[in-house]
Amino acid sequence: MQHFTLSVAETDPQIAEALENERLRQQDQIELIASENIVSRAVLDALGHEMTNKTLEGYPGHRFHGGGRFVDIVEQAAIDRAKQLFGCTYANVQPHSGSQANLAVFFLLLKPGDKVLSLDLAAGGHLSHGLKANLSGRWFESHHYGLDADSEVIDYDALERQADEIQPRLIIAGGSAYPREMDFQRIAQIAKKVGAYFHVDMAHIAGLVAAGVHPSPFPHADIVTCTTTKTLRGPRGGLILTNNEDFVKRLQSAVFPGVQGSIHSQVLAAKAICLGEALSDAFKDYAAQVKANAARQAQTLKNRGLRIVSGGTDTHLVLVDLSPKGITGKRAEEVLERANITANKNAIPNDSPRPPEWVGLRLGAGAATTRGMKEAEFETLGEMIADLVEAEAANDTSAAVARCAARVADLCATFPVCKD
Ligand SMILES: Cc1ncc(COP(=O)(O)O)c(C=O)c1O
Repeated sequence: MQHFTLSVAETDPQIAEALENERLRQQDQIELIASENIVSRAVLDALGHEMTNKTLEGYPGHRFHGGGRFVDIVEQAAIDRAKQLFGCTYANVQPHSGSQANLAVFFLLLKPGDKVLSLDLAAGGHLSHGLKANLSGRWFESHHYGLDADSEVIDYDALERQADEIQPRLIIAGGSAYPREMDFQRIAQIAKKVGAYFHVDMAHIAGLVAAGVHPSPFPHADIVTCTTTKTLRGPRGGLILTNNEDFVKRLQSAVFPGVQGSIHSQVLAAKAICLGEALSDAFKDYAAQVKANAARQAQTLKNRGLRIVSGGTDTHLVLVDLSPKGITGKRAEEVLERANITANKNAIPNDSPRPPEWVGLRLGAGAATTRGMKEAEFETLGEMIADLVEAEAANDTSAAVARCAARVADLCATFPVCKD
């Protein structure tokens, strides 16, 4: 039957063309978006596998449908590997995304109207931590802590004063544009003092934590969430981890049927594969290289006179403040893309609430490091970004774009995504 044999190129040329163009784009552009990475062939194989046909609700050994024995093997492997990787006693691997994982934590620990204290979005927080436009901010009373004005790292004393005053039920650490290590122990002490639960969302740094090149939120956090994308280099999806046995039964129910229905069976296979990969020595080397590359890029940009928020990075992420150059993040993003470098505009501390006016540019080292680029290439990338920003500020971009695009083409040829 043709249904089983025809390829997408044969049945749907429009989508086939978009898929192929996206594949080529990823080969021909250097990806510096901090939330992206390049998954292995093995992860891609799982995502396109027939396991996608299987509908299951519940947990391994306790399903609401028959025929689940092979998916049970996959989910149990993902659970066991996540526990081993992050050194915890319980892992839920079912969340369809990082936001879903966070929602399940809210469902587990909070009642509508309860107070939540999390990192401000403009200080690098995430929208699922209580942004007013998100359910987390609409149904719960969200408060935000910020950064010390000089150092641009979390002002822990101010956070403690806020926690004393607000008496939140939940304190969240973690974010999507915070380049520094967080003092999980200090925040845990503050949470304990005010009787709050402590949740770490380590979505961006999970791969670094897994490899031991970033401090772990355990044993300090009550509960930890992350995505399997980003530095963990896996499929789109989330994880929830804890050592608190009292949570386990209610947490299972918070995910299913609390905020989700059936599992994405083929994604669980891809998660198991990525977690297995992250247990390898090669992944430890990869994660150490990610940090070294980000640090070199930050130093190069600084040497070229660009202001780096907080002065540097402890992670895969660098946040550039473009305001001294007089251009927005949007303009920088656009000129970089013309030279085939992909990055994104971002808010920086005290930025405008309007995204088109943001003056931050966020850079991440995860994906280009997967291609094999090292410090020397990240120095080159830093030089190119500085050239492009200067050209954009001078409204004279043609020569710089042409020069950088040619250099990017060389780099992409030297560090191919695919071997074909
Ligand atoms: C800190 C943090 N938490 C949660 C998420 C949400 O993950 P998802 O996009 O899978 O919902 C992100 C995504 O960028 C993130 O940076």
